[in-house]
Amino acid sequence: MSFIPISHPAIGPEEQAAVAAVLASGQLAQGPQVHAFEAAFAAFSGAPHAVATSSGTSALHLALLAHGIGPGDEVITTSFSFIASANCALFVGAKPVFADIEPEAFTLDPAAVERAITPRTRALIPVHLFGHPCDLTALHALAVKHNLALIEDACQAHGAGWQGRPVGAFGTACYSFYATKNMTTGEGGLVTTADEALAERLRLLRAHGSPVRYQHESLGYNQRLTDIQAAIGLAQLPKLPAWNAARQANAAALSARLAGCAHVRLPVVRPGANHVFHQYTLRLLGRDPDGTGAGRAAAVEALRAAGVGTGVFYPLPIHQQPLYRGLGYTDHLPVTEAAAREVLSLPIYPGLTEANLDHIAGAVRAL
Ligand SMILES: Cc1ncc(COP(=O)(O)O)c(C=O)c1O
Repeated sequence: MSFIPISHPAIGPEEQAAVAAVLASGQLAQGPQVHAFEAAFAAFSGAPHAVATSSGTSALHLALLAHGIGPGDEVITTSFSFIASANCALFVGAKPVFADIEPEAFTLDPAAVERAITPRTRALIPVHLFGHPCDLTALHALAVKHNLALIEDACQAHGAGWQGRPVGAFGTACYSFYATKNMTTGEGGLVTTADEALAERLRLLRAHGSPVRYQHESLGYNQRLTDIQAAIGLAQLPKLPAWNAARQANAAALSARLAGCAHVRLPVVRPGANHVFHQYTLRLLGRDPDGTGAGRAAAVEALRAAGVGTGVFYPLPIHQQPLYRGLGYTDHLPVTEAAAREVLSLPIYPGLTEANLDHIAGAVRAL
């Protein structure tokens, strides 16, 4: 069997034809394809407005600016994420504050969030990590009680839901269309919101504060998506529901094959969660008693030798990154730090065959 990579973007003839058509049209930068993609994604996610951006990072950056977050403000988020989830607060001069996570779903612990709220807190950025939604009921209630912006980092959670509602229905939501995500535009991002005025601020912020060409009302950036990228997104979006269902079926199949395996703890789907399995992330138990990471590194190598690609998302929590240590962060977040030592993600993308799933599970069992 050939090597099974950790991720594999699904680009087919539809994407290729869509890109060729844009190239032939001569309209390459933000134009009709971007607007059509925004309308399609808004309809898909159930949000009234969608504003496409150049990346998930820029979606988060602009969302904070549009909510008026800035110097002196505190933004509570998770340290167990990609660094953009926290850096967006630094971009606008605000202070990221880290709350610990819940051990099963790896998502923000609402009780820890509540303990971290101060008079300076202005926003919460929960991350639907690996495609598993946060406890949006509790986090939304906290946001309402303390008058905080709720900015969902849905960069890994296209199509996920909580208690029957899509993610994004609870606040402002930011998506990434990076190449490994459940759907892609190569690079790209998007913000959804129910607030028309916020959407308008986002449109200005992404294009140099310019409502009309060469008229600039406010400070903005160039964080636009291109029509080439949007055409890929338009071709991908109709396939996303089937891809998410395939990821969920692959996850169920892997969990069934790994049931009872004593050296791993399998991923959970909490009641009320529609988990879209951007990653299938398990914990390796008892492999790393000295905390050096050598045990996990050996497992990664054994799986690679068996033809199975893996990912470690994320080996170093954000608060322990050199950037944050340099900023004076000394937090101790025990649940986050244990997760960072133990997690390992297996291939889960839609194109996996039954034979691939057997092979992956066999290799994990043999560890
Ligand atoms: C949780 C999370 N937040 C933010 C981002 C940033 O998205 P991008 O890489 O598109 O800038 C990513 C993706 O890489 C992510 O996984």
